Amino acid sequence: MTDVAGKTAFITGGASGLGLATARALAARGASLVLADIDTDRVTAAARDLSDAGARAMGVTLDVTSEAGWAAAGEAARAFGPVSILFSNAGVGGGSGPFERYDTEVWRWNYAVNAHAHLYACRTFLGDMKASGNPAHLVITSSMVAIVPPPISVAYISSKYATLGIAMALRNELAPTRVGISVLMPGMSATRIVETTRDLRPAEVEAGQAAATSQAMQGVLAGGMSPARIGERVVRAIEDDEFWIFTHPEWKDMAEAVTGDMLAAFGPSADPDYRGDDIAGLIAANGGRMFGR
Ligand SMILES: NC(=O)c1ccc[n+]([C@@H]2O[C@H](COP(=O)([O-])OP(=O)(O)OC[C@H]3O[C@@H](n4cnc5c(N)ncnc54)[C@H](O)[C@@H]3O)[C@@H](O)[C@H]2O)c1
Repeated sequence: MTDVAGKTAFITGGASGLGLATARALAARGASLVLADIDTDRVTAAARDLSDAGARAMGVTLDVTSEAGWAAAGEAARAFGPVSILFSNAGVGGGSGPFERYDTEVWRWNYAVNAHAHLYACRTFLGDMKASGNPAHLVITSSMVAIVPPPISVAYISSKYATLGIAMALRNELAPTRVGISVLMPGMSATRIVETTRDLRPAEVEAGQAAATSQAMQGVLAGGMSPARIGERVVRAIEDDEFWIFTHPEWKDMAEAVTGDMLAAFGPSADPDYRGDDIAGLIAANGGRMFGR
């Protein structure tokens, strides 16, 4: 999509952080905005601020884990304008402590918000975006931790790997369409994610451990990159139709170490008599696309 002006964007997690920053950057380029967020007060205020600044904006209350909520939000958005930019971005931090003692509800909630919600987002808008025949764009927020996993929450890291997997698989699926796709892979950014997570966390059982971890994370993230710069970068990626959105190059050495470690582990075939997988046949059997090409 070479020009976002006049297009309507639907942004989850649009009341705060990276979602709101991207909304502002899109508004500055002349796009209309539907901000969707579980936090009604904040999303209402954010949409009002954008409108006061001259943008066409609407706020909707949406819990991205609720299929019924998506149906209502989709209807409201379509009445506002045809959505051609979908930013599936809402996310929450994970639980903490040793994996075998994880709280099941925190685990399920993390996957529901961070990973599963992309299905609802696409079910709500992607069909229309494809059918319009006009340029459209989907952005999904993963994280740098889905390439370089630091010793933080297993739920958060693995749900972000799932998100990256969704984006990579969709890249193949969308290649023959006019819908572009980007995956946002930020390092640390000074957003409200720790506070948001603390406010929304569904279980009390891990309170002691979680409290200590979230306090430490709050301190670390406070020194992170300005969300505004990341929002502007997202808009450039939409306009330039870039798949990968890397915002923090200081992680590149670690990314090389991780992928290098993996590649170095490739050895000889487990079956020396096997002719090798028919990878071209696999690609052809599934529509003939890989890596979006
Ligand atoms: N801040 C960082 O350092 C960082 C780094 C990498 C990736 N991310 C990712 O960026 C995305 C945006 O997070 P942020 O850092 O801007 O945090 P944020 O808390 O400032 O904004 C996230 C917004 O999502 C909303 N939200 C949470 N659960 C929701 C739900 N169930 N339904 C609808 N809305 C919901 C919150 O109310 C909040 O307004 C997340 O996916 C996060 O994992 C953040």
